[in-house]
Amino acid sequence: MKKYNIAVVGATGMVGRTFLKVLEEMNLPVENYYLFASARSAGKTLQFLGKEYTILELDEHAFDRDIDIALFSAGGSTSEKYAPIAAAKGCVVIDNSSAWRMDPEVPLVVPEVNPDDIKWHKGIIANPNCSTIQAMVALRPLQLAYGIRRVIYSTYQAVSGAGMGGYADLENGIKGEAPKKFNHPIFNNCLPQIDVFLDNGYTKEEMKMVNETRKILGDDSMCITATTVRVPVFDCHSESINVELKKPFDLAELKAILAAAPGLVVQDDPANAFYPMAVTAKGKNETFVGRIRRDESIENGVNLWVVADNIRKGAATNAVQIASKLIEMWENGTIKR
Ligand code: A2P
Repeated sequence: MKKYNIAVVGATGMVGRTFLKVLEEMNLPVENYYLFASARSAGKTLQFLGKEYTILELDEHAFDRDIDIALFSAGGSTSEKYAPIAAAKGCVVIDNSSAWRMDPEVPLVVPEVNPDDIKWHKGIIANPNCSTIQAMVALRPLQLAYGIRRVIYSTYQAVSGAGMGGYADLENGIKGEAPKKFNHPIFNNCLPQIDVFLDNGYTKEEMKMVNETRKILGDDSMCITATTVRVPVFDCHSESINVELKKPFDLAELKAILAAAPGLVVQDDPANAFYPMAVTAKGKNETFVGRIRRDESIENGVNLWVVADNIRKGAATNAVQIASKLIEMWENGTIKR
């Protein structure tokens, strides 16, 4: 099997460091790794795969090297500027920022859900928003079995979704210090604002969930609304998802469909207080679903509680899984390198 060269852009960040952990675990056929960050970190070293790697500065010539795949998580403006430069050099960018997600020329991929969209990439593949990814893993099997008419998302999102600064605000808030990243204290509080507000009164995070869900599930007519909330939890996003299906369903059958779905683990035993939680999902690559129950207020409704590690499945794991799928497609001839 051919071996590939992989770059990690933003290797010193919260998601970047988890890229490295997941890459260590997934054992892709890789010849060389290149780790990039800003000029601030260039020259510093990171331990990775039992070796010491020197951080390289990201600049216009970074992709003059022979790099097959670049995993980006260094913010939207870095992706906007450097992803096209990398793609022009023949490197496939898997981008964790929101910069390219809604570009019609760019596939938006959750490997368990829409792997075939990788085939039409033109050099950039977008990794969806963290809260969208875990929802897709749970909703796709229901869409295939019953069709989905409407979705209502209510999220309970960890501070790690806001990077190192979000983490610091909760840690320092516990000690009584004022927040720097968030507008208000996050300790002992819930913030009904993630990202900036838009003209329609929704936040950007909420509209990401609406628009990305439609793109990934390939259904522009799906009715979707969202309320996204930052809660004082360090890691893992929890979501209440209310779904109106198009067809009637049998609850036991629906649970069996979820149990058989790729990447999804059912944890649903209310009698024993067993359900997905942030503390049990932490460090895992799967998405967890529980509290599966009929919405008795409408005809074909079901309620789900979905939890995943937002830095793993919500970011790094999903991106590395896309890389793995891409390599598989190159190797089996589905797409040309
Ligand atoms: P650096 O550590 O050198 O600042 P987080 O979201 O956890 O704060 O991480 C952001 C990541 O993106 C870090 O690795 C950071 O590198 C990197 N980064 C930020 N701005 C740039 C830039 N202009 N060029 C390259 N990497 C950047």
